Amino acid sequence: MPMKDLFDRIIENKGPLGKWASVAEGYFVFPKLEGPISNRMKFNGKEVITWSVNDYLGLANQPEVRKADADAAAKYGSAYPMGARMMSGHTDLHEQLEVELAEFVNKEAAYVLNFGYQGILSTIDTLVSKNDIIVYDVDAHACIIDGVRLHHGKRFTYKHNDIESLEKNLERATKMAEQTGGGILVISEGVFGMRGEQGRLKEIVALKDKFQFRLLVDDAHGFGTLGKRGAGAGEEQGIQDDIDVYFATFAKSMASTGAFIAADKEIIDFLKYNMRSQMFAKSLQMVLVEGALKRLDMLRTRPEFKTKLWENVNALQNGLKERGFDIGTTQSCVTPVYLKGSIPEAMVLVKDLRENYGIFCSIVVYPVIPKGLILLRLIPTASHNMEDVSITLDAFSAIRTKLEDGIYKRLSASIPIS
Ligand SMILES: Cc1ncc(COP(=O)(O)O)c(C=O)c1O
Repeated sequence: MPMKDLFDRIIENKGPLGKWASVAEGYFVFPKLEGPISNRMKFNGKEVITWSVNDYLGLANQPEVRKADADAAAKYGSAYPMGARMMSGHTDLHEQLEVELAEFVNKEAAYVLNFGYQGILSTIDTLVSKNDIIVYDVDAHACIIDGVRLHHGKRFTYKHNDIESLEKNLERATKMAEQTGGGILVISEGVFGMRGEQGRLKEIVALKDKFQFRLLVDDAHGFGTLGKRGAGAGEEQGIQDDIDVYFATFAKSMASTGAFIAADKEIIDFLKYNMRSQMFAKSLQMVLVEGALKRLDMLRTRPEFKTKLWENVNALQNGLKERGFDIGTTQSCVTPVYLKGSIPEAMVLVKDLRENYGIFCSIVVYPVIPKGLILLRLIPTASHNMEDVSITLDAFSAIRTKLEDGIYKRLSASIPIS
């Protein structure tokens, strides 16, 4: 076969999403939301109710959070500290944040990560060696899948949140581990961010009576939103102590950048000395560390943000259910609304929602969900109010009627996507 230039394939095949760029870019993908992060922002110059920002507790634009960020920026700039934690990027405040995070999620120790995605990817890579076996939920977030990709040993997926399937795979994994002499790592999310179900952590940890494994939980969407104190899905389900390695990002409830892992001290010590994404990359900047300390303090001492969040979540989810919308099996703030329709219909519908009803939410279609379904994903936050909810419920009723009446089908006839 003749050799090709590397870029020929890239130019010919832009990828599953890239191929829609000419009709989608700037609107459905890479949209620009402008103005302070809040319940109302600007899109294409018009005010929209924003349901697509993971600022669950509404901290992003709280005056005291903004002040803490500004003060830290004035004091340290955005460079400090330079270098990886192990070399020249370590500070008292990183340590303080780790102590406070560990205490908050009820673990012996924590390690702050410069980014969530590569942090968990690298955690997975560091926890397992080639004789170990990974068993993970098939619907896991891309960062978990990429972490598993780095693994040189065996891996099995279990059906999404299906304990019977997990059990079968644990049987297979156990047989294999008995041959390799390795151990087993099970990975679940605390909350699955697309559809909002909680990982069945209680039932997963119950399997520890029957099988020998360690459990890693990515609680990106649970941290700050679930549990009595907001310590996440483990606290909510009463099994935090049985999570062996707990991960959460600062990119959602904490309204920032960065992440952390928490576990027994011996495990965190091992990760600190072996985790490539932290050993060979710059440490989290001080602005973000000080900002995280402030946000964590607010999580601990200002429960009113979580209370307000849940008032909004309940009003939105109950309102949708009362109007007969299918919101699936969510058990978290993530609010999916499933409608029946094609991709072109979804595009016209979302445009109508944004332009004529002032509602900005994310849209998910095939291949992420089955063909013929449209998922509108709403993220309520503490900065929303009952007026936002009521306008949105009315808008959703109106667009459903139009969808069922075939209006979007007619309008979408010229869109070159099937
Ligand atoms: C479940 C889950 N894990 C990890 C991440 C990655 O976190 P970060 O944005 O901090 O890189 C995300 C996305 O933010 C996520 O949704």
